Amino acid sequence: MPKKMWYSLMAVLMIAVFVLSACTTPVATTQAPVATEVPPAAKAVEVFSWWTGGGEAAGLDAMIKVFSAKYPAITFNNAAVAGGAGTNARAVLATRLQAGDPPDSWQGHAGQELIGTYVKGGQIEPLNALYEEQGWLAVMPATLIPLISQDGNIYSVPVNIHRANVMWYNPKVLSDNGVAVPTTVDEWFAAMDTLKAAGVTPLALGEQWTQMHLMETVLLGTLGVDGYNGLWDGTTDWGSADVTKGLENFQKALTYANSDFASLSWQDAAQLVVNGNAAFNVMGDWAEGYFRELGKAPNTDYGWAPVPGSVGVFQFLSDSFVLAKGAPDAEAAKAWLTIAGSKEGQEAFNPVKGSICARTDCDKTLFGVYLQSAMDDWASNTVVGSLTHGVVANDSWKTEIDTALGLFVADQKVDVFQTALVAACKASGPCK
Ligand code: GAL
Repeated sequence: MPKKMWYSLMAVLMIAVFVLSACTTPVATTQAPVATEVPPAAKAVEVFSWWTGGGEAAGLDAMIKVFSAKYPAITFNNAAVAGGAGTNARAVLATRLQAGDPPDSWQGHAGQELIGTYVKGGQIEPLNALYEEQGWLAVMPATLIPLISQDGNIYSVPVNIHRANVMWYNPKVLSDNGVAVPTTVDEWFAAMDTLKAAGVTPLALGEQWTQMHLMETVLLGTLGVDGYNGLWDGTTDWGSADVTKGLENFQKALTYANSDFASLSWQDAAQLVVNGNAAFNVMGDWAEGYFRELGKAPNTDYGWAPVPGSVGVFQFLSDSFVLAKGAPDAEAAKAWLTIAGSKEGQEAFNPVKGSICARTDCDKTLFGVYLQSAMDDWASNTVVGSLTHGVVANDSWKTEIDTALGLFVADQKVDVFQTALVAACKASGPCK
């Protein structure tokens, strides 16, 4: 056989052997796998709140710093939506929840807002395991736990305690006009008459939720603790003469307010006081976080006292964070909640935010003079809950009250307002 043919035959044979063996031999299992591995999903937590400015964002940022130092591998997505008391944010949140697109964790108020809305709607997860792991039951105020629990399940992590019934005042405006800090509703009205006659705006007020905030504190100041609490458990008659008196007092308080209140945010209104353009402002103590951010000094640029008629009462609310059912990243959300409930997270957040810790072991010396006084009052006063900030009424009841309030501010008819409030308690509250 010529050499050339011999080579050709050998080549054909070799190809045949190769093809045959490829068909019959299983793929070697020891061979290194092709690099198809997908990198692990990036960890991220989306946290929803309404803290976007005016002292509030600064508090949140301080806590995010603690979070990012502890969990550098988790991206923090700040989904805050602007607008005091969450009026805008909560509407956005409701739409997202309805669309099945929850943020991993969101801000909710301890009390009926949480229990009567998110728990009732099956939108959040219980956190008992996290509480156990972190030992939170031993350090969180015992009064708070029932307000975030149902049927033995704990549903949120409180980050703070705020006080709603604070009357901020400008010390110089009062002293220039010979006005003492009022402690009763009648003293307050007398002081505001004096100020009005002197050409000073007596009361700084803002948009609608701040009007509800004023109303609830005036109701508290008029009805006292039992009468006020009874509004929410059905033992105070919304149609009673006492409530009429409370509403008339609220109506009178409105007559002392700046005329452009409808268009002012809570920050705008609070600023009127520290700038010397108004004497009083009723606002929760997040206002103090704002005053400090503006560089104002306690007891010089602003003073504080309980809203007249509510001395010895701490009307509270608590911001808390939840774990969404179906959270896109539940593990990252739990990391966030761990920081929100921690001593370190709360000690960073609260002195800036203008609130006190929802823990009993925070270092008091980290807090300014106002917040130290709030801590003393929280420990010694009678504690009641806020309407505007979610403690005493669920969302549907609060919405009905809000609608009636809006009409009242326009038409000023106390009897019509009271009838609507009676109906609201029957429709969505405990009244029969
Ligand atoms: C409250 C909230 C406070 C503060 C305030 C004004 O509802 O609990 O933390 O943010 O609104 O925006």
